[in-house]
Amino acid sequence: MRMPYEKPFINRQRGGITNKFGDVTQCKAQDNIEGVLIADLTAQYGSPLMVYSERVIREKHREMMRAFSTRYPKAQHAWSYKTNYLKAVCKTFHTLGSWAEVVSTMEYEMARKLGMEPSKIIFNGPFKPYEGLQKAITEGAIVNIDNLDELYDIEKIVTATGKHAQIGIRVNMALGGMSTWDRFGFNLDDNQAHQAIKRIVAGGKVQLAGIHAHVGTFILETEIYRQEAQKLVSFCAAIKSEFGITIKYLDIGGGFASRNRLKGTYLSTAEMIPSFSAYADAICSNLLDAFTLEELPILFLESGRAMIDEAGSLISTVQSTKRLPNGMKGLVIDAGVNILFTSFWYNHEVIPTVVRGYAQEDYVIYGPLCMQIDVIREQVKLPPMEKGDRILIQPVGAYNNTQWMQFITLRPNVVMISENGEVEVIREAETVDYMQQGERIPEWLKN
Ligand SMILES: Cc1ncc(COP(=O)(O)O)c(C=O)c1O
Repeated sequence: MRMPYEKPFINRQRGGITNKFGDVTQCKAQDNIEGVLIADLTAQYGSPLMVYSERVIREKHREMMRAFSTRYPKAQHAWSYKTNYLKAVCKTFHTLGSWAEVVSTMEYEMARKLGMEPSKIIFNGPFKPYEGLQKAITEGAIVNIDNLDELYDIEKIVTATGKHAQIGIRVNMALGGMSTWDRFGFNLDDNQAHQAIKRIVAGGKVQLAGIHAHVGTFILETEIYRQEAQKLVSFCAAIKSEFGITIKYLDIGGGFASRNRLKGTYLSTAEMIPSFSAYADAICSNLLDAFTLEELPILFLESGRAMIDEAGSLISTVQSTKRLPNGMKGLVIDAGVNILFTSFWYNHEVIPTVVRGYAQEDYVIYGPLCMQIDVIREQVKLPPMEKGDRILIQPVGAYNNTQWMQFITLRPNVVMISENGEVEVIREAETVDYMQQGERIPEWLKN
C-alpha cells in the first residue's frame, strides 16, 4: 500500500546554557594574526580592520602550482582580478608569476597600471566595449570572446588596424548534476560552439587560439572538472580534424572551493573541500594523453577564491549585546554586510580574541547598518561577549574587497602583514571627503 506523502520538516535545535543536553565547553580564542597582536593592530589602524597575510597567499599559490605543474608541464595561473583587485594582492600574485585575468575594461586598466604586459592579460567577460576590445587587441592581450557580436567587433578592429588577432572562445556545457552557466559563451553540447568556430574560420580575419570555460564557482565535486576536461579535449580533437587548427591554450577557468563554510552545509570544511591535488588529478588525467608533446596546449587556471579567501581576516568590535525575545543573545558589531558581502552565502568562522568564560551561548551577530538584512551570522556559539570585545571573522579574502560599498558607513583600513611580520596599510580608510569627491551641487541649489 502506498503511504500518503508527508512534507518533511527540519526542527531546529537551539543550544546554549539552557540546553538540557549540555554544551561544548571548549572554546578557542586567537589574539593575533601571523604573530601580530590584534590589540596592536586595532590600536594603530582602528576597527573594523581587514587584514591580509602575505604568507598565506604565497602558500596557496605554491600549493596550487605544485599540484598542477607536477601533473602537467604547461600550467599557468592567471589571477582573477574580480576576486580581489587590491593592488597589493594583485602585485603579490604577479610577483609569484601569475598572469592577470580580467573581466572588464576597468580591470584591464588596473592590470596595465600594475605593469602587466598585455600578452599576460586574459580578457574575459560578457561585455567588452568596442574601445576596450580595440585596446586589448592592438596591445596583444589574450581575448576570449563571449558572443558573436564581439567577434564582429574584433573583425572590424583587425580590418581597421591591420593588426593580427588570435582569440579564444568561451564555451559552456552540461556537467554532472550542476546547473549550466549557459549565459556565458557558446554551448558545446548543442553545436553552438562548433558553429562559432566555423564562423571564425569562414571570416578569415582572426585566428582561433584557445578554448575557455568557467563552469561555476565553489565546485565541491572534482568529477565536474574531470568531465569538463574530457569535453574540452574532445572538442579540441574535433577542431583539429575538421579545421586543422591546433589549440594553443585550454583555459579551465576558476571555481575551486576555498576553506569556507557555505550556508546549508553540515560537514566540516576539512571533509568537504577537495585539495588542489584532487582538482589537478581530475583535470590533468586525460590531458597528457590527448595531445602530442609538440602540440601540448598551455593550461590556464583562473582560480580566485581558493587562492585568496583564507589570506583575509576581518577584525571587528562588539558595540552592544542584547537578549532577544527568542532567548538568543544578539551582538551588534561595527562591520556590516556592506563590507562583508559574502556573509549572505557563508557561515564565516567567528573567533573570539579573549575567552571570558566557558559557558557558550547561541548568538546572532548583527552589523551596524540600520537594516534587517544586516546579519553577519544567524547563529553561532560563542563564550560570553562584552561591549568592546574584538572578534575575528575568517576567511573573508575573496570577493569582499571588490563587492563592498559605503552604505551608511565608510570602508575601513586594509593592511597586509608581510612574511617577516611587517604591517603596511594597503588601502586607507575612507573619509566623507573621499566619498563625495565626485559629487557636485547644481547651480540652482547653491543659494
Ligand atoms: C571568468 C572567470 N574566471 C575566474 C573566476 C574566479 O572564480 P573562482 O573565484 O570561483 O575561482 C571568475 C569568477 O567568477 C570568472 O568569472
